[in-house]
Amino acid sequence: MSVQAVKRRLSPGNIEALKGDRPIVSLTAYTTPIARLLDPHVDFMLVGDSLGMVLYGLDSTVGVTLDMMIAHGQAVMRGSEKACVVVDLPFGSYQESKEQAFNSAARILKETGCSAVKLEGGAEMAETVDFLSQRGIPVLGHVGLMPQLVNTIGGYRSLGRSEKEANKIRRDAKAIDDAGAFAIVVEGTIEPLAREISQTLRAPTIGIGASPACDGQILVSDDILGLFSDFQPRFVKHFANLAPQISAAFEAYASEVKARTFPGIEHTFQVKPKP
Ligand code: KIV
Repeated sequence: MSVQAVKRRLSPGNIEALKGDRPIVSLTAYTTPIARLLDPHVDFMLVGDSLGMVLYGLDSTVGVTLDMMIAHGQAVMRGSEKACVVVDLPFGSYQESKEQAFNSAARILKETGCSAVKLEGGAEMAETVDFLSQRGIPVLGHVGLMPQLVNTIGGYRSLGRSEKEANKIRRDAKAIDDAGAFAIVVEGTIEPLAREISQTLRAPTIGIGASPACDGQILVSDDILGLFSDFQPRFVKHFANLAPQISAAFEAYASEVKARTFPGIEHTFQVKPKP
């Protein structure tokens, strides 16, 4: 039997093992073409429920459904082969009980082929993280600013300034760590606190608006490409500014169609001469 080179995708265990070795690189992906471009450059890509705001124009991530996450998870899996793919559990698909979380996460894993799910929550979700992890579902935790709680936290702002808030984030991170998450996203948390948490947890921390001392970093791809301009949080850096280039291309297309300079004859199909 011939030995074929087997291309292996990074697993959640590989991501976990990077703590203390080198920074973990991650970005969001929602579609096949972006997943293809991203795959060589990231350790894991997140099919984040931020797609509700970025792709669907929703005001928050609350309206995102499990079916939406599965459809985009499938698209991202079709475009990637090396990176670990993690899909977000959307609001309402896991908070009711650990059994509900298992059913939603199992659907995501079975129907997309991805390797792990992410869920938002601290101490109150620890039992669920443990339940999933013990049953073959690797979990990426998410503490600090939790966008699915927008209706109870009253908007998006950085957290951890008061001792009460900081202690809650410390407790949340520790609870999710103890419950067995393979990594933990720390979002919108003041820098010294994110640094302290990163130094004390077993699992790697993945910062977004947190600290350079986190074990890895994640951002929304559309943000770093300068494609999503509804608002720009302080922690976003534009590595490209594609929106004006796309606008200019659309404008050029429209004016060429109006001027009948596009399509040219070279863009058309001609009758082939008979042999
Ligand atoms: O939904 C998302 O995209 C996220 C991150 C950017 C961490 O949760």
